[in-house]
Formats: sequence, structure tokens, C-alpha cells
Amino acid sequence: MSDVLYFNGRFTTTDERVLGVEDRGFQFGDAIYEVFKFLGRRPAFLLDHYRRMNQGLGEIEIRNPWTEETFTATMRELLERTEFEDGIVYLQVTRGEAARNHFWPENLEPTVVAYSRRFAFPDVAKKERGIRVITTVDHRWNRCDVKSVNLLGNAIAKKEAQRAGADEAILLAGGFVREGASSSFFAVRNGSLITHSLDEHILPGVVRDRVIGLALGAKIRVDERPLREAELFDLDEAFITSTTQGVMPVTGIDGRVLRNNRRGELTGRLQQLFDQLELRS
Ligand code: PDD
Repeated sequence: MSDVLYFNGRFTTTDERVLGVEDRGFQFGDAIYEVFKFLGRRPAFLLDHYRRMNQGLGEIEIRNPWTEETFTATMRELLERTEFEDGIVYLQVTRGEAARNHFWPENLEPTVVAYSRRFAFPDVAKKERGIRVITTVDHRWNRCDVKSVNLLGNAIAKKEAQRAGADEAILLAGGFVREGASSSFFAVRNGSLITHSLDEHILPGVVRDRVIGLALGAKIRVDERPLREAELFDLDEAFITSTTQGVMPVTGIDGRVLRNNRRGELTGRLQQLFDQLELRS
């Protein structure tokens, strides 16, 4: 089935093969991507995604082809052209196309791709049931704060989780917990949240940031610090957050059952607060 595709200033469909083989996004992973959610054709936290993309492009010196205004207008037009109400938009800005060479030419014209997709967001039962996770070594590069398309380390970790019958892999390094392969990770202990501080080892998750804001607004303490691997054995609750999963309870870690296999109380509260906020965003 074809979906609406925005490519370098024009609208087409995903049936059209648009990318050149020497696009640097394809050959070098030289690109930034974003995924945002829309409900009833209304994008959620659109400017949060724009700002993170702008930051990432700046970090790797790719010219941002958009302003906040042109980005918003383009994404709204994409959603107007989309035939369904709810889904995600995947977008990518690459450094551009040039004869393959590690040295990139200055002033390349960035390649811009964005398309909408249907997405099966978790239903009420899934949101209550939660997910199981495994832990594995973080093999990613050292600038995970940049949402680059170099996702091989993430994909391998995720496959390992799937083969173990789990939904997500929690990445560890040097005895500390970083984040999920495609999500942020939160632990709950004595009524407080613990989640990795923002640095080059984790992605500044849009949902992570919103959930921290909601927690603080509800007078819930948030410790932004790396959790020790050993602390995973002594948690009251745990959850992951991401654009596609929202706030998702973790009910098992490496085969150990957490909270009698049930969503934790604080997790449920934050899940509800986040779902409300997302609808209003
Ligand atoms: N993944 N950490 C990593 C490594 C991620 O890939 C993601 C999101 C997150 C959560 O970020 P946010 O709350 O902004 O969605 C954290 C997206 C959804 C993906 O790759 O599909």
C-alpha cells in the first residue's frame, strides 16, 4: 500500500523510488531522523520533535532546510493529504547526495524525506499488561544524544530481545543502565523516579521530558542519574517511554517478574497524565 511521501519540496507517494544510491544517509548513516505521532490528523508535540531535530542537525553540521513555520506547515499538509486519522510520521534529513567519499563536500543540498504510516498504538489492555525487557550491552556510538540513523546497535539489541521473548532491550554500560534500544527507561523506587541524566549516552526523549514535567508537577521526585545495574534487582516499578509506546509499564526484567506482573501504581498515574497531555498537545 502506498503512503503520502514528502520528498525535497514536493509531495508524491512511497511507490516512487526517490533516493539516489550515493545519498550519504544511505551510505554513511549521515542523517538525522524523527518520529512523531498524530491522532485525528493532529501531530503530538510537533515542535519538541522539530527542536530536537534542529539541535541534532546543528551538532553534525547539516543545514536545517526548515524553520519552525515551514516545518509545521509542511507536516500539516502531509497530514491533510494522509488518508487515515492516526499514525506516525517518519522523517529524515540527510547531508545530501555526492560521489562516495568520507570527506563531504561543503554546501551539499540536504535530502529531505517524510512520510506518514498507520501504526498500531498500544490499546488499553496492552497498556495495563506492560512489556518484558532484557538487559544487554550498549554497543552504540558515543553520541547517542544525536538522533542519527545509525541504528545497527539498537536493531541488534532489539532482535536479541525478540529472540528472548521480550519486547525491549535495556542497554547497559560499565555497570550502569542507559536507556532502551528504542525508548527511555525509568525506575521507580520509594515513590521517586530515577532516569538517566541527559548526556551523550542517551537520546533526549520527547516523552521522557514531558513525563518528568508531569511528575514534578504532581510533586513526584525525579532523580536524573544513571541507575546502577544492581539496582534493577530492587525496584518498586519500572516503565519505558517513547513516541509510539507512550508510558509503558515494564513487568519483567531478564525473566524476573516485577510487581507481581502488574502495572505499578505510579506508572499507571503517569500513563494517564501523559495520555491526557498528548491529546491536548
Ligand atoms: N525511538 N531512546 C531511543 C534510543 C529511541 O530510539 C527513542 C525513540 C527514545 C524515545 O524518544 P521519544 O520519546 O522522543 O520518542 C529513546 C523512536 C520512536 C524510533 O526510533 O522509532
